[in-house]
Amino acid sequence: MGADKSYALEKVLIREDEIKSIVKTLAGRINEDYKGKKLIIIGVLKGAFVFLSDLVREIKSDVQIEFIKASSYGSKTISTGEVNTEYVSFSFDVAGTNLLIVDDILDTGHTLTRMMDMFREKNAASVELCVFLDKVERRQVPLTAKYTGKVIPDEFVVGYGLDFNESHRNLPYIAVVNTSKQ
Ligand code: PRP
Repeated sequence: MGADKSYALEKVLIREDEIKSIVKTLAGRINEDYKGKKLIIIGVLKGAFVFLSDLVREIKSDVQIEFIKASSYGSKTISTGEVNTEYVSFSFDVAGTNLLIVDDILDTGHTLTRMMDMFREKNAASVELCVFLDKVERRQVPLTAKYTGKVIPDEFVVGYGLDFNESHRNLPYIAVVNTSKQ
C-alpha cells in the first residue's frame, strides 16, 4: 500500500473504482436536481479538495466554485461544537443563491451545521450538503446530508483528501489507519 507510510495503513476500505462509481452516482443526482439552475459549490478545506475536484467535473449545470475553511476549537475527538469559519474565497453575494456545501466527511455534525446555518442567515435560496463519507454513529447534532457517498463505521480513515497528521491525503483510495502502530 505504498512506500514508507504503508505500516500505518491497516486495510483499504473503499477502492478507487468504487470511489469513481460513488462520485458518478452523486453527480447524477445533483445534475438532475439542479437542472437549469445556477449552482454554487462550496468546498470545505482542506479535506474536500480531492472529492470536489472529481465531483465538479461530472456536474453539467453552470457551476461556480468557492472554498471555505473551518476549524473546531479544542479536541477533535470530543468536539466542543465551537466552530471558527474562516473565509478563504468568498467574493459573492449569498442572498438568493443555490449553495451546495461539499465536504469529505460528516462526523459529529458541528462544523457543517454551523456552516449551513451561517449561509441560511445570509439568505441563500437553498443550502444543501454533499459529503463523500458519513460516520453516522458519531453524530452529536441531528444533521443528514442530502447527498451522501457512503456511510462508514467509526474507524480512523485516510486518503481521498482525508489525513492523519497531514499525511495520506493524496491516496486515491480510502484506507483505515491503525493509530496504535504509529
Ligand atoms: C473534517 C471534515 C469536516 C469536519 C467534520 O475536517 O472535513 O469539515 O471535520 O467534523 P464534524 O462533523 O465533527 O464537525 P478537519 O477538521 O479534519 O479538517 P481538514 O479537512 O483540514 O482535514
